[in-house]
Formats: sequence, C-alpha cells, structure tokens
Amino acid sequence: MELKSEDVQEYLSYQGNPVREQFPSLNQMVYGKPLIYLDNAATTQKPWKVINAVQEYYTTINSNIHRGVHYLSQKATDAYELSRTTIATFINAKNSREVIFTKGTTEGINLVADCFSRYGITDKDSVIISSFEHHSNIVPWQMLCDKTGARLKVIPMNEDGELLMDDYKALLDDTVKIVAISYVSNTLGTINPIKEIIDLAHQIGSAVLVDAAQAVQHLAIDVKDLDCDFLVFSGHKMYGPTGIGILYGKEEWLEKLPPYQGGGDMIKTVSFVKTEYNELPFKFEAGTPHIEGAINLKVAIDFINEIGLEQIAAFEQGLMSYATTAVQEIPGVNIIGRAKAKTGSLSLSVTGAHPYDIGVLLDKMGIAVRTGHHCTQPIMDFYCIPGTVRASFALYNSTLDVDRFAEGLKRAVNMLV
Ligand code: ALA
Repeated sequence: MELKSEDVQEYLSYQGNPVREQFPSLNQMVYGKPLIYLDNAATTQKPWKVINAVQEYYTTINSNIHRGVHYLSQKATDAYELSRTTIATFINAKNSREVIFTKGTTEGINLVADCFSRYGITDKDSVIISSFEHHSNIVPWQMLCDKTGARLKVIPMNEDGELLMDDYKALLDDTVKIVAISYVSNTLGTINPIKEIIDLAHQIGSAVLVDAAQAVQHLAIDVKDLDCDFLVFSGHKMYGPTGIGILYGKEEWLEKLPPYQGGGDMIKTVSFVKTEYNELPFKFEAGTPHIEGAINLKVAIDFINEIGLEQIAAFEQGLMSYATTAVQEIPGVNIIGRAKAKTGSLSLSVTGAHPYDIGVLLDKMGIAVRTGHHCTQPIMDFYCIPGTVRASFALYNSTLDVDRFAEGLKRAVNMLV
C-alpha cells in the first residue's frame, strides 16, 4: 500500500520518544497507518529488555529448577528465586515465602477460592465481591458457593461506577469469610478506596483478596501498608511475559490453607500412605512452572522501577484527563464510568452505534481498542448497554495517540450515526 506523506510524517514523529522506542512492536504500520495501541488493559507490549531476556534465557540457562545439581539447573533456580525476591520487594511483602508464582490473576483467584472452599466454609458463611468485578473475580467465588452452600453478596455501585460504601458496610457481618475486590476496574477505570475496604473487612474478621491486575502497572503497591491478606496480578499487563502471575498471601494464611494442586515440588516426602507438603512458597507451586516467564517478570519489574511507578502514575493520570476531555467533546459519545478516582481505562458508548462497529472502523485507522463487555457482563447489564469501546493506556502512550483516537472516534461516529 502506498503511504500518504502525512501518514509517513505522523509515523516518523513517533520516533524519538525514548520510552516508546523501547517497544519495537509499536513501531509498525497497520493498514498503512501508524499503529496506535490503546488495548493495554488487555495486554501491554513488551520492551526490548524483556524480549532480549527471553532469548537470553533459552540460549543460556534453560533448565528445570529445584531439581538438578548441574550447572544450568542451579543457574535457572537462582534466577527464578531472585525474581521472587525482586517481586517481594516490589510489593513490599514481608519475605519471598509470601510470593507464589501462578499462571496469572485468574489462577491466583481460583487458587484462593478453591483452597478456601476446603477450609471450613459452610452454608452459614458468605463471600463479598463488588458489582464491577471481572468474571475471573466472580465465577471462582460462585464455584466456591456451589461447593459449600455459602452465599455470594455483591456491593452495589452508583451511575458513576463508584462502590456504595454504606451498602458495603451493611453487608459486613460475622458470616463473611472473605471479601474479593478489584483495586482498579478493568472496564470503568475506577480506583476503589481499597484501604478502607480492607480495614472494614478486618473489623469483622474477614480476609480480603485484592485483584490488582489493573492496578500494579499504574500505582505503587505496598501490601504491608494495604494490609491485604491476598493480592493477585499478571505479568503480561505490566510489560512482562504472558502465562505468569503472582499470588501474594500473608504467610499466616498460606500456612493455614491446604495446597491447591498436587504434584512435583509441592511435597517434602511422598509414600503411598502419607504425603508431607513442602514449605512455603513451594507448597503452592506444583509441577514445572513457567520458569522463563517467572525469571523475565523480574526484567519487566526492573524496567518499571527504572522509570518509577510514581512518575508513571502521574504521567498516566495526565493522559487520562486529556483523553476524557477529548472524547467528551464529541457529540453522541457517553463516557461510561465517571468515578472521581480513575486510572488506566476509559470506556465509552456512542448513541446509535454498536461498540463493535466503532471498534472495527477504528481498527482500519490503525487504532487498537477493545470493544464488548470486557469480561464484566454485570456492568453492561447495569448500564443496559451491549458493551463499550475501551481505550486503555500505558506508559508509552502519548497525547498524540489520544488525538488520533479522538479524531478516529469522531470520524467513526460521523460514518455510523
Ligand atoms: N482482563 C483483560 C481486559 O480487561 C483481558 O481486557
């Protein structure tokens, strides 16, 4: 396809942004237009550091861990455990025994829900979630309730997409065994008053799991300060590899809970009569893990640390306000989720147009957004809409991306409405 000179100019104008230049996948044209990648809540692009480290791992130390006396195995084990220590420091855990490698946020929540379902929960008990949880923080708790007879209670929200804290307080009673709540909504971008939520749950003796999948790349997290009992996140949404994530759990909880899966590495001794489980954190890591992913999650975290989460948060807040102003000026566009505290995701609907059609037109302009229910169908039911168009931001996005998105949106609205 022949490029129009203004497209080439625009493409070239992206060169020279020092952060963006570290992400090779962003420097490409799609349908003859410079790629504008605004689907970061689904997954972020990867910097050279992580890409190179993946190759480095497979060309130098690829080996199984915790199982071999040989050189490569020891190297891989050391790198894997160094990553665990780095992650413990990143979230300010008490020690690295509190850091479990998982496949991602979904597995972390399923692990806790499954272990809780085998830890004395009965039909007298209840679990609290909120009305804007991702399906991965709804379905595992429904499965727990099916298994145990416990009741699922849901904190309602207002039209702005903020939780109703008085209603939350009213749900808290001595039947509640765990509150599972997102820090930041993947669809609405709402930042929950997480410390207050945790504090109130602790006052009635309930545990709290924080889904930080959409928070950890935007806000500095300190698990000691939050005082959460569990916290989960995914590597691929924070510039790291896919298929790797973290479950943080307070040591006291991880000691008490039964293991999740049985297999290699999670045992100390096995006989046909009795198995003795391994100590933390290995008790929760059955089987050969995603070794390369775990090691290279550290590389992604080093990358974030070099820039600094406080800097990232301030930059992304600015971008979010800029984008909000830009899209709300377009006739027919309605912002879905107007919470006072927001980060990461900006969802919208267009009167008279289906989000999918808007998404397809934007795609043809080189602009990648997510459309649909974003794995949060209850939110769509609440607003009585089929879905939203969601632009979600990362540290490599710029006001130029937002301008292109707003222009594209305006064109799409004019074509469809
Ligand atoms: N949970 C991811 C999203 O919000 C996939 O897009």
